Amino acid sequence: MGLDRAASIEDLRQRARRRIPRFAFDLVDGGAESERNLRRNSEAFEEVQLTPRYMVDVSQIDTRAELFGQTYAAPFGMAPIGMLNAFWPDADLTLARLCARENIPFVASSAASTTLEKLAEAAGGNGWFQLYVSGDADVTEGLIARAEAADYEVMMVTADVPAAGKRDRDIRNQLSVPFRITPEVLVQLALHPRWSLETLRHGKPNIANYADLLQSATSYADVQKTLITPSFTWDGLRHLRDRWRGKLLVKGILHAEDALHCAEIGCDGIVVSNHGGRQVAFGPPTVEALPAIAEALDGRIRIILDSGIRRGADLLRARALGADFALAGRALAYGVGAGGAAGADRSMEILKLELVRALGQLGVPCYKDVGSSHLELSPHRN
Ligand SMILES: Cc1cc2nc3c(=O)[nH]c(=O)nc-3n(C[C@H](O)[C@H](O)[C@H](O)COP(=O)(O)O)c2cc1C
Repeated sequence: MGLDRAASIEDLRQRARRRIPRFAFDLVDGGAESERNLRRNSEAFEEVQLTPRYMVDVSQIDTRAELFGQTYAAPFGMAPIGMLNAFWPDADLTLARLCARENIPFVASSAASTTLEKLAEAAGGNGWFQLYVSGDADVTEGLIARAEAADYEVMMVTADVPAAGKRDRDIRNQLSVPFRITPEVLVQLALHPRWSLETLRHGKPNIANYADLLQSATSYADVQKTLITPSFTWDGLRHLRDRWRGKLLVKGILHAEDALHCAEIGCDGIVVSNHGGRQVAFGPPTVEALPAIAEALDGRIRIILDSGIRRGADLLRARALGADFALAGRALAYGVGAGGAAGADRSMEILKLELVRALGQLGVPCYKDVGSSHLELSPHRN
């Protein structure tokens, strides 16, 4: 099936699944433990009903959204994804360029396969930097100083990683650091020659920002300590607020009190996120966590939502429940996996076409005017 016949993000996902060895596909596609949270993210979106209104002139649709003084062409950006080049070579550069072209934000992950400097350049003025607070304070400070020097204005610190998520698929696939080539991996590589050759040509995917540090890592525990820490607390966040002069966002908020705390500390926004269901299986889907958070914050700081966005209409659902903006993670990643740069373009095109059509069908010409009045009374509202 050609890319032009891919009608939905799910079609692109299926195409990516055929093109990519299982261990690499699962690395992106999988979730924590039973994957309940991963499944619930999409299901909960589907359950949010919006009631269309008719006899409204929707001949001009405006999908623009304003955030932190910048007007973006659409109300979503690319979520930070680490090690994405293992999914498809050059995936993160491809997506950064796409976001620059489309005038939407691109969030460069601390754990990206390309350095934050190169991603800043590729994303033009649309790059945001996602920070993982390291177990080593010097490593964290080094990343912040580099992000500053690379002119990032928005920094997003990820809060939902007191420990690495337990992803059963990765364990079953025997993904390990350093990467070991098992007989099963060899079979997978042989079955996906295009991926294998392209990956060989582009070089082994790594975590570029820490490349030197990780060279000496001999165990997964070493890698984990470099990347994240179990002891990041509100004091740590206060320190970051003092340290970072630009906009500061906290990603991974699910509780209204945590959201309020972020506002009190002086953060500019939060990302209501469950890390795409990759951290825990027991948590709430983000659309269920959002209404209480939006109510508590009452417009004090900006709310971005991610985890489970697969349709243009999901952006309207997020907005109706109280979000200002959204991030798509896997939706765009599947596009790259389905067909490199052309596949990424197709995923963007699908989301944008669906968004425009959904706004027209809802009877709201401007995305910014979608609100709670469009919500059908549903379990989330009662
Ligand atoms: C393969 C993969 C790697 C990720 N790496 C990071 C990361 O390095 N930093 C981070 O804050 N979030 C990371 N996330 C979470 C995403 O930023 C985002 O919250 C999530 O993908 C949203 O869910 P969705 O994929 O359903 O859109 C990762 C997600 C995936 C799928």
